[in-house]
Amino acid sequence: MERMRQLERTGLFDAMVPRYTSYPTAPHFRDDDGLGSLGTWAGELDADADISLYLHIPFCERLCWFCACRTQGVRSPEPVARYLDVLKQEAASVAAALPQGPKVRRIHWGGGTPTILTPEQITDLAGTLRDAFPIADSFEFSVEIDPTLVNRQKIEALAAAGMRRASIGIQDFDPGIQKAIGRQQSYEQTREVVDMLRDAGITSLNTDIVYGLPHQTLEGIRRSTEQVLTLAPDRVALFGYAHVPWMAKRQRMIDSDALPDTRARLDLLEQTEAQFADAGFVALGIDHFALPGDSLATAAAQGRMRRNFQGYTDDSCAALIGLGASSISRFPGGYLQNAPGTAAYAGRILGGGFATSRGYRFTLEDRVRADLIERFLCDLSFDYSALEASYGTFAEIVRPDIDRALNRFPGWLNWINGSLCLAEGGKPLARLVAAEFDSFLKQGGARHSRAI
Ligand SMILES: C[S@@+](CC[C@H](N)C(=O)[O-])C[C@H]1O[C@@H](n2cnc3c(N)ncnc32)[C@H](O)[C@@H]1O
Ligand code: SF4
Repeated sequence: MERMRQLERTGLFDAMVPRYTSYPTAPHFRDDDGLGSLGTWAGELDADADISLYLHIPFCERLCWFCACRTQGVRSPEPVARYLDVLKQEAASVAAALPQGPKVRRIHWGGGTPTILTPEQITDLAGTLRDAFPIADSFEFSVEIDPTLVNRQKIEALAAAGMRRASIGIQDFDPGIQKAIGRQQSYEQTREVVDMLRDAGITSLNTDIVYGLPHQTLEGIRRSTEQVLTLAPDRVALFGYAHVPWMAKRQRMIDSDALPDTRARLDLLEQTEAQFADAGFVALGIDHFALPGDSLATAAAQGRMRRNFQGYTDDSCAALIGLGASSISRFPGGYLQNAPGTAAYAGRILGGGFATSRGYRFTLEDRVRADLIERFLCDLSFDYSALEASYGTFAEIVRPDIDRALNRFPGWLNWINGSLCLAEGGKPLARLVAAEFDSFLKQGGARHSRAI
């Protein structure tokens, strides 16, 4: 009770803050003439730079009401086929802009639903990428899989293209909750897909689950988490349900009176965290868990875990290049985002250019803040001397923010041997602390999801 009161005093239960999968966050990207083209940014990569490719497939056969991902429903195969043609053209243009030397080390297909593609489309798209880009022999290929829209042929096509990591969406197995969020998916069907993935040689399986869903109770989420554990995932992402109906209009189908309040959300989160700890998982960052031998757990233990648009990763590539509508690329100098709508995206690519619609060029101050926020959300602490090592005395720009954060979160945030550290039990505050270092928040202009 005392802990709840102390957390309440920090403003946690009312706060709405970004998830910081980038800094600056996407609402602060600009449509700016000074940005330069993706071709220029790609052309400036060092010869020894590693590249990570992200491909966005913005289509789903079903549109789950809870989902805030950028995607659209399709009932016929034509829009997907047309989109793939454009995507292949974009891949060829981007690959042609790269200098000699950089190699692709990671490929991730996300969505939406990449498994909406037929086995033939999967093989064709993977082949196009292989032909267009210089791909390292030991590249890693991961895919987001909707267990209700995949079959053995699709999985085998993905595995033949090199997929060794997969992520499946679960959210919650309770049929009542599934009804309330407009997403039906039985345990049996999910189990069958997990078995197929393992048969196909998937060595790292992630499952997405969500707390804070309508009608979710402590007993219900405990049972659903037990079912998730029987699937033997290597990693789990436990997201807080982001209710953002002003952005994701389909969420208006969700009865907001049935949503747990912020205190109940904290209980759901912490009970589930304890369940994963009891099952031998290591907690990573603010919302991930992994088995101790998993490469993400190893990266976290060695201070190498990173945070990007897909969440947490052990990807250390110098550049992330996003292909497809709404995809975001991160280059050493900043971010570029493709036009979000599929029609505008296709128009730009078919017009012979790149699909960039906005972006952001880092200032030195942004880099300091971005590094600090990323390290803090990965490690729940950050070492000021690492900032000094990178930025010298310029790192002092965040000193006033450190003092303000220490004052705002007394007892929760401590200054220990030159590091800003979250105290035991302070994890729910992590995004709120990160927000203290965000100089764009004061400008407003964007609405966010709950801090917890
Ligand atoms: C692209 S989707 C999943 C892939 C696939 N289409 C599926 O449904 O299985 C990525 C994940 O984002 C998470 N997500 C989507 N909307 C969310 C929301 N409003 N709040 C929290 N997490 C959300 C879900 O856990 C979801 O599995
Ligand atoms: S959860 Fe997956 S299947 Fe459902 S709408 Fe979102 S992206 Fe599509």
